[in-house]
Amino acid sequence: AGTGKFFVGGNWKCNGTKDSIKQLVSDLNSATLEADVDVVVGPPFVYIDQVKNTLSDRIEIAAQNSWIGKGGAFTGEISAEQLKDIGCKWVILGHSERRHVIGEDDQFIGKKAAYALGQNLGVIACIGELLEEREAGKTFDVCFKQLKAYADAVSSWDNIVIAYEPVWAIGTGKVASPEQAQEVHVAVRDWLAKNVSPEVASKTRIIYGGSVNAGNSADLAKKEDIDGFLVGGASLKGSDFATIINSVT
Ligand code: G3P
Repeated sequence: AGTGKFFVGGNWKCNGTKDSIKQLVSDLNSATLEADVDVVVGPPFVYIDQVKNTLSDRIEIAAQNSWIGKGGAFTGEISAEQLKDIGCKWVILGHSERRHVIGEDDQFIGKKAAYALGQNLGVIACIGELLEEREAGKTFDVCFKQLKAYADAVSSWDNIVIAYEPVWAIGTGKVASPEQAQEVHVAVRDWLAKNVSPEVASKTRIIYGGSVNAGNSADLAKKEDIDGFLVGGASLKGSDFATIINSVT
């Protein structure tokens, strides 16, 4: 950790019921969390209101997606305006599951980011390479291409947190080593310095996601350019998520 306030997001993905979320919220409300950490959770859309009404204000709420523009005749979509209306501060965009399962491309994601920022939502902008891309030596190329699509679309980086999530590490139990993650985080920062501005590079938080758990977060957090985490599975357990939050160094 080295840039800005440590940032830990919990991406609950498509998990939970009213009852399990009630329990998780209660566990989070009673957890002791380091003060110097931004903490965000991303419930499924249908539970955002429940979480907003029961979770301590200490923790902010992210949606897991938002529509590319103003709402209207877009069946099944949720607009950034609606997310603001219901109390979301953040939206996760460009997650690998949306890229690779749903088929969202770089430009589409860049436009979504720009629209959400325009509605004053913070954006957790995900990037990351597939295993075959890593094995082919294309990790940086892929990440830079994804970054460029964000950079081409947005006019300010003030409310963006970049989440580097190597796809091979997501939900697999195969966490990137602290060195592997740090190597990409530095490359991302260098890219920002050259292609956006040195100021944006020095103040944008770059967080890591992919099989982060209560046992490996402390070592990752020691790395200079790992400014927090985006946590999937381990964020569904309040005590593990609290341990990860408290691994700030
Ligand atoms: O967005 C977080 C995520 O993709 C990582 O998931 O379950 O590997 O922590 P997980």
